[in-house]
Amino acid sequence: MAGLLTLGIGLVIYIAIKSIYRLYFHPLSKIPGPKLAAITSGYEFYFNVIKGGMFIWEMEQLHEIYGPIIRITPHEVHIKDSSYYDEIYASSKRRREKSAKLVARFDLKDSGFSSISPEDHRKRRSHVEKHFSKQAVSNIEYLIYENIEKLDNHFKRAFEFHKVISLDAGFAGLTSDVIHKYVYGFNSGNLDHDDFNTNVRDGINALFKFTHVLFFFPILQTIMNAFPLWLLEKLNPFVYALVSQKMDLLHRTEEFLQNKSSNSGTRSVMEVMCGPSMPEDMRGAVRLNNEGFAMIIGGTETTARSLVMAAFHLLENESIRTRLREELRAVMPTPESQPTWRQLEQLPYLSAVVWETLRVSTGIANRSARVAPDEALVYKNHTIPAGTPISESNYFVLTDPEIFPDPHTFDPDRWLRAAAKGQHLDKYMVNFSKGSRICVGMNLAYAELFLVLATFVRRFDMELFETSEKDIAFTRDFGTPHPDEGYGHVRVMVTKVIEE
Ligand code: HEM
Repeated sequence: MAGLLTLGIGLVIYIAIKSIYRLYFHPLSKIPGPKLAAITSGYEFYFNVIKGGMFIWEMEQLHEIYGPIIRITPHEVHIKDSSYYDEIYASSKRRREKSAKLVARFDLKDSGFSSISPEDHRKRRSHVEKHFSKQAVSNIEYLIYENIEKLDNHFKRAFEFHKVISLDAGFAGLTSDVIHKYVYGFNSGNLDHDDFNTNVRDGINALFKFTHVLFFFPILQTIMNAFPLWLLEKLNPFVYALVSQKMDLLHRTEEFLQNKSSNSGTRSVMEVMCGPSMPEDMRGAVRLNNEGFAMIIGGTETTARSLVMAAFHLLENESIRTRLREELRAVMPTPESQPTWRQLEQLPYLSAVVWETLRVSTGIANRSARVAPDEALVYKNHTIPAGTPISESNYFVLTDPEIFPDPHTFDPDRWLRAAAKGQHLDKYMVNFSKGSRICVGMNLAYAELFLVLATFVRRFDMELFETSEKDIAFTRDFGTPHPDEGYGHVRVMVTKVIEE
């Protein structure tokens, strides 16, 4: 009993000393912010884990109170100032690391995405990025169109049988099938299912919903992976779907490494990456599979959500839809035309719709801190010591009213108005992040957006079915933006298949 008491008193003294240090002597003690956040990460835990993805809104409030720079945890600083973004998310000329704590939760060890140091990152990314250059993505337009035609069949059947169709599941099915085929060389077959194989998608979304818990307890990933599959299937079918999907992909990676490739036609990204050009010390099957899985996760929900947001706003705004359809006729004389991405990019209004779509869909909701290991950053009259994780949230830049007036309105024209005045709003398009760690799959996302939206608008009239703003609203940050309920479901009825 006495032992327990001593332990208790010891603990209280330890916490008290640590709190005093963090409040008054820590290198970040002069950065404004609530005392509780300076003392404990429990502050973030409460808003993100207990309340469920709400820390971003708390940060917004704190910025209102304390100004553009705040200390959000004992060790981390957050800035809300669009003009400072490039300082944090800087090019490779300035050394930037990722925050180890932030990447640990993804279980993508040794991938480019999870690399901490710029040296590791550059070495790993160089084997990935050549597959996502503009030219490389243009070369797989046929693959995007193959899947668009499958989705088109779903829409036509839904029209014929007066069936409600779930656009979010359809678009996620498309982006998932494209990225699986391109990266691993097989058809994941989501678009071959009537329900778009939503089980696997639910698995990825379940992982997203778990993102904050995994941030605080990354060990759970290891525990989850250690469970026998049969038990996992009983405990949680979504996590089971995700874990078994990753294992299947690992098996395929091992086969590529043993050179058991299909040898038929075009080689997949993973086949190339498992080939002789990959240095010996980077050829571990788990590492390579983590690289591939990062592309699968990165390439599915993000782009699908952007497509869903575009569809929702286009269906809500008849004038935007009509104007876009008129513009599309120039390169799509018939609804069945398949213009190239390059042709579509030349269309100013479609380009404005794509930019506005990306802006309102946010992309990644969660902050992704960078660390300047050997450079103290200066923000106004504050010096942020070298080695401090520091972030901006993309959402705050994309909805900054100084840059994007009336930021919550879907207004593609804002891009045309700005261009006419010689303003470069694209400087603030931080959807894909910026600098050396900018999204590697950006060109694929653009190509999918241009091709899918053009076809969608040129070929169909649809009406929203039991879907409103609240179904797509960003109210919770679970890695990607989530509404209060569900994953952003948008259901529609196809009311017309356009024939001329
Ligand atoms: C609209 C669609 C997309 C958005 C908004 C988006 C957003 C982002 C963002 C913000 C980052 C930086 C993450 C960080 O700082 O931690 C990132 C990185 C990444 N994204 Fe995307 N992404 C999209 C599409 C894709 C696609 C289609 C792929 C497929 C390959 C992809 C794969 C990746 C990978 C592998 C990384 C890590 C890059 C690196 O660290 O070198 N993303 N993405």
